Amino acid sequence: MANTDRFLLACVMGWPISQSRSPALHNHWFAEHGLSGAYVPLAIPPERLKAALRALPALNFSGCNLTIPLKQDAMTIVDAVDVTARKIGAMSCVTVRPDGTLFGSNNDWYGFVHNILEFVPDWSTGAGPVAVMGAGGGARAVVYGLMERGAREIRLVNRTQTRAQKLAEDFGGPIAVLPWERRHDALDGCAMLVNATSQGMIGQAALDLRLDKLPKTALVNDIIYIPRETPLIAAARERGNRTVTGLGMLLHQGIPAWKAWFGIEPKVTQALRAKIEATL
Ligand SMILES: NC(=O)c1ccc[n+]([C@@H]2O[C@H](COP(=O)([O-])OP(=O)(O)OC[C@H]3O[C@@H](n4cnc5c(N)ncnc54)[C@H](OP(=O)(O)O)[C@@H]3O)[C@@H](O)[C@H]2O)c1
Repeated sequence: MANTDRFLLACVMGWPISQSRSPALHNHWFAEHGLSGAYVPLAIPPERLKAALRALPALNFSGCNLTIPLKQDAMTIVDAVDVTARKIGAMSCVTVRPDGTLFGSNNDWYGFVHNILEFVPDWSTGAGPVAVMGAGGGARAVVYGLMERGAREIRLVNRTQTRAQKLAEDFGGPIAVLPWERRHDALDGCAMLVNATSQGMIGQAALDLRLDKLPKTALVNDIIYIPRETPLIAAARERGNRTVTGLGMLLHQGIPAWKAWFGIEPKVTQALRAKIEATL
């Protein structure tokens, strides 16, 4: 359990950081649990990451989250990394252990899986092939989550095919890499489509993907959460597909972080979701 005698501290480090919704999420939970504490955004350029992470124990921080572009760099700084973060190749969370050493983990895959389960409780990867667009850090967490849930066929498509091939080599398992030109055909017979590219994010073009081959029964998930509804999600919804947006991935990944930092399991509630959605 959390030590309620002290002011609880955690943070998110990134460069830039002002876009992060993590402070609103975690400070909501401090208030909800009646705890004295704060979660602060810290603008940390990569060259200062080591000093910033090493300062956490002395400052009484329980841990931090990491966002772009620090998720990979942190892997070589902390004292230990869990098997999940090692496999994904990136770290989203650091926990300060009682002896002051730093432990890295990746909770993005957990957020991906539990976001889907919140909206589709009977979701099963056994329903059919899953098409994943993208092969960056987000896609690696998505593929890890799909494999944890027993996916039998993952069709992986990325603009830079070699990056998708590297992901498939690192992960092994049921991943078929298809060239970017075949992305429209890759949807044929799929039970699920996940966008893990940055296309559709605010300030970016929409993902250039025709949905005509995607069965109407397929579930469509976009891990982007700014905007709340990407052009892909709008198009999928309009043609009758079930859709899940990306915000819940951010919200749910906070749960294992709190368990590790404070020994508390917070909840993703409608009130929390509405509060964060209002900021998007
Ligand atoms: N909801 C959440 O909690 C959550 C968590 C993580 C990420 N995300 C979101 O997921 C998105 C990807 O993040 P990331 O960390 O994976 O970024 P990343 O590592 O930089 O990867 C970006 C991906 O987008 C692809 N891409 C970029 N420009 C493209 C274009 N013009 N056409 C086609 N593909 C393009 C890249 O392909 P190439 O390899 O060819 O460059 C790569 O696959 C971001 O919008 C991020 O906000 C959300």
